[in-house]
Amino acid sequence: VTAEKAGFDHFMLKEIYEQPKAYRDTMRGRIGEDGKSVLLKELQMSDEYVKSIRKVQIVACGTAYHAGLVGKTVIESLVRIPVENDVASEYRYRSPIITPDTLVIVVSQSGETADTLAALREAQRNGARVLAITNVVGSSVAREADDVLVTWAGPEIAVASTKAYTSQLIAFYLLGLHMTRVLGTQETSQEEEMITALQQLPEQVEEILQQAAVLKQVAESIAHHRSLFFIGRGVDYAVAQEGSLKLKEISYIHSEAYAAGELKHGTLALIEDDVPVIALVTQEALYEKTLSNIKEVKARGAHVLSIVNSGFELEAAKSVDEVFAIPKTLPLLTPALAVVPLQLLSYYASLALGHDVDKPRNLAKSVTVE
Ligand code: G6P
Repeated sequence: VTAEKAGFDHFMLKEIYEQPKAYRDTMRGRIGEDGKSVLLKELQMSDEYVKSIRKVQIVACGTAYHAGLVGKTVIESLVRIPVENDVASEYRYRSPIITPDTLVIVVSQSGETADTLAALREAQRNGARVLAITNVVGSSVAREADDVLVTWAGPEIAVASTKAYTSQLIAFYLLGLHMTRVLGTQETSQEEEMITALQQLPEQVEEILQQAAVLKQVAESIAHHRSLFFIGRGVDYAVAQEGSLKLKEISYIHSEAYAAGELKHGTLALIEDDVPVIALVTQEALYEKTLSNIKEVKARGAHVLSIVNSGFELEAAKSVDEVFAIPKTLPLLTPALAVVPLQLLSYYASLALGHDVDKPRNLAKSVTVE
């Protein structure tokens, strides 16, 4: 077993460190030789079909659902087609409006989650085309979907998903770029800029991993708290939700993710002296707004750790207690970097509390009951 963990203490840590490779593997063969275009040869859907899509629904569970939240922003901002997100266990019961011009994207690491599979079947029954983003070739979801984008993250053993999530993000970026090219919704120079930035992500993740020791320290101070909060706006809010889930899953510390601007409508009542708040501040256009939300929690005694873009540390340090900087990338791509420190925080918090990191209580890697 030690050998399988390649010298790491846990599968989760090994999988966190495998992310640079997973990003590269998910991109491999999907970016043209010139490095300027995305080619998803495995997709069966025609360009004509892509042009006919009027709505996208992204359906998934758990961490895959959180990847879909980022996917919504990616598709809407690049392609300008409206996207709905659904938790798979809710999808069928809200009588969703599924039409033949709806593309349904199901996201599933294992490809075996019962609710996700049932959602896929419901979508097809209603005449929609289904594209699956999955890590397992030959899984039920992969076999039944009309199109499959495999995330080549390699086997994920730890119950808490890390590299599968980030490779799902990469798949959404590639899909967004593919649809953009077909529909001509972005300038070629913008597409090229994004492809270049995508290819820099693996090295940027390496840079974050080199700072793991800092996060270990923060995690140890967080570990004795009973409750904490994650805040962010836009894609930062999506990442906040994933960070919160990761922490709950393996450290059993209660946490909530909040859209930063929504805090004042209720959750602010829970902020008291010394409550940890993790604030994601990676969207330059929203810096000022999020900083003012940080001031609101600081004024109530919160201890704030903020995840910011490199270059913004000094400014952010004036308003928060601790700053962790991620390398600079495009605003749409920050989730692929910002989630990494949150994964490490939960790992080290779980470790500090002496929990079984790879096999948290009550949870299963793949849930095949509805
Ligand atoms: C379980 C796992 C989660 C996972 C979810 C969806 O709850 O513990 O880590 O995100 O299922 O799994 P899937 O294989 O469909 O991505």
